[in-house]
Amino acid sequence: MDTEKLTSRRHFLRLSGGLAAGVALPLIPSAVQAVQKGGVNPVEELMREHGVLRRVLLIYDETANSIRNKAELPHGVIKDSASIIRRFVHDYHEKLEEEEIFPRLANVEGLRELIGILTAQHVAGRRLTDYILETVKPVVVKHEEPKAEEQKMPAAVAQIYGGTPLITHMLGKETPEMKMTESGIPHSKQATLVTIEHFVRMYRPHAAREDTVLFTAFHSAVSPREFVELGQKFKSRERELFGERGFEKIVESVADIEKKLGINDLSKFTATT
Ligand SMILES: [Fe+2]
Ligand SMILES: [Fe+2]
Repeated sequence: MDTEKLTSRRHFLRLSGGLAAGVALPLIPSAVQAVQKGGVNPVEELMREHGVLRRVLLIYDETANSIRNKAELPHGVIKDSASIIRRFVHDYHEKLEEEEIFPRLANVEGLRELIGILTAQHVAGRRLTDYILETVKPVVVKHEEPKAEEQKMPAAVAQIYGGTPLITHMLGKETPEMKMTESGIPHSKQATLVTIEHFVRMYRPHAAREDTVLFTAFHSAVSPREFVELGQKFKSRERELFGERGFEKIVESVADIEKKLGINDLSKFTATT
């Protein structure tokens, strides 16, 4: 191999190594070094938060199976899971994304549309969680045979969900036996099941797209210094909201629910060959 070919091959290897890491070349060393010097990696933080989300999605899968099979669910499983999603995912993780990640990527070519979709999914996710929590509230009013004009969507539901086809569809299945919670939300296992199924279906691709496209682009969009500062900001927000060992405590709460459902033993998920 002559010298010219050797040089260009070396250049190619350096370049392809950088591209394989998915980040802009000039930023790799300093961003990584800054984090290695005791800094917090904000992308790592967001990804481990996705880990909590994924564990709750598995809980939701299991819950949906139990409802479909008309099996008894341990007390409080749905309410506790949805409460974790609301506190940790909607009110913390997604707020970080909306306030700190999305605005920094809004002008990156090719990401505007994705960010629009992700934002809309956050809104839809919050509505679904509100709805899940409503469906498991105690029933206080027994709904009588609805008159024709009452078969329209209740005002409270319309106000929360803005008349989405999902809710209309669900209400369509709930007629004479429909029970309502105090706030006028239909209460039934079928309504909970459909909402959980929609939630899981939306959030699996949502988190996967953020992990593989958005967070990768984020490395290149900020300076190493800003990257580390954001990591610290994320960490202190977490401490402020959830206290010391806040993340670990959330994981423990998720693990408690997994135990109740009998899905805590990871080895049970090992494929048999
Ligand atoms: Fe998100
Ligand atoms: Fe996310």
